[in-house]
Amino acid sequence: MLKKSIITGVGHYVPENVVTNNDLAARMSTSNEWIVERTGINERRHVVPGGDDTTASMGTKAARIAIANAGLTPDDIDFIVFATLSPDYYFPGPGVQVQEQLGLQREIGALDVRNQCSGFIYSLSVADQFIKTGMYKNILVIGSELHSGGLDFTDRGRNVSVIFGDGAGAVVLSASDDDQRGILSTHLFSEGKHAKELALTAPSTRDWIPNILKRNDPEETDYYPYMNGNFVFKHAVVRFAEAIQAALKTNGVSPEEIKLLIPHQANLRISQFIQQSMKLRDDQVFNNIMRYGNTTAASIPIALSEAYAEGRIQKGDLVLFAAFGSGFTWASALMRW
Ligand code: ACO
Repeated sequence: MLKKSIITGVGHYVPENVVTNNDLAARMSTSNEWIVERTGINERRHVVPGGDDTTASMGTKAARIAIANAGLTPDDIDFIVFATLSPDYYFPGPGVQVQEQLGLQREIGALDVRNQCSGFIYSLSVADQFIKTGMYKNILVIGSELHSGGLDFTDRGRNVSVIFGDGAGAVVLSASDDDQRGILSTHLFSEGKHAKELALTAPSTRDWIPNILKRNDPEETDYYPYMNGNFVFKHAVVRFAEAIQAALKTNGVSPEEIKLLIPHQANLRISQFIQQSMKLRDDQVFNNIMRYGNTTAASIPIALSEAYAEGRIQKGDLVLFAAFGSGFTWASALMRW
């Protein structure tokens, strides 16, 4: 019989440094009112430049908490899956840094996933396949982002830079013989024709740093993220709903049966739109974007860790994850806790 994948441990880490909307308004033409009205965000965390926090180290901190929460030690981990769009290095990816930073005795495999806002669900799905087949018992799944180092905090980048925040979340996914629990389904989607609507295109192998330096163009913005916000928003609300429907239909589950929907924290207006269209009560949807902004691959595991700590998820509950983002990619996962 195939094993089931259950989450045995959760953890998150966010930098201490709180950046309010008014702090941003002091740096660019924006306002607390604009940001709250359009996104629901009140504040986010930014690492202190030159400090100890990096994408990998924040991931390691979240992972340590998740491992302890699972009642395990780092050497019980058989495999690492790390999702991020903001790695410490162009290569190697941060998975191997976690292997080192956790001080693991074993030379376990470490896989990096680059699916932006859907990265955590994609990673969970990959880990689920390894567990189901019996290849691994305990897999660390991490989402971590350090956005603040690469955003344009001038008026030019304000539609993007007010949204994103730094932080990390992690879970331990473990094998179980209890066929009543665990991940019930994952659904993964992509539509590459919209890749450039939300992208950071340079430096890249198509446009490497010497070219950028040669152009020496102060107006150049290719090395900052570009987002066609309105276009992304319109696709997000449709694709979120489709990913959720795929999960509900596959498992014959109705929205009333969902104990908690944890959507990727893209924009509070997107979460509210989904909640209304699914006719979910407030207690069925978890949002923390107000405090952290959009932390991309980290947003679902951070939210899950907080929801769990608040007692919002108990054994046997149906928990639904859904995400949409750059790629475009979108995804869902349904699990019985
Ligand atoms: N402060 C003040 N004004 C601003 C700001 C700002 N921070 N940003 C933009 N504006 C202005 C614009 O210049 C524009 O002014 P104009 O009308 O004079 O031209 C006006 O506000 C409206 O701009 P829009 O971009 O049309 O604003 P919109 O209502 O679309 O909101 C937002 C922008 C919040 C970015 C929204 O489009 C959004 O949330 N999009 C989806 C984001 C998302 O889900 N991303 C996917 C996940 S992220 C990932 O995958 C990495």
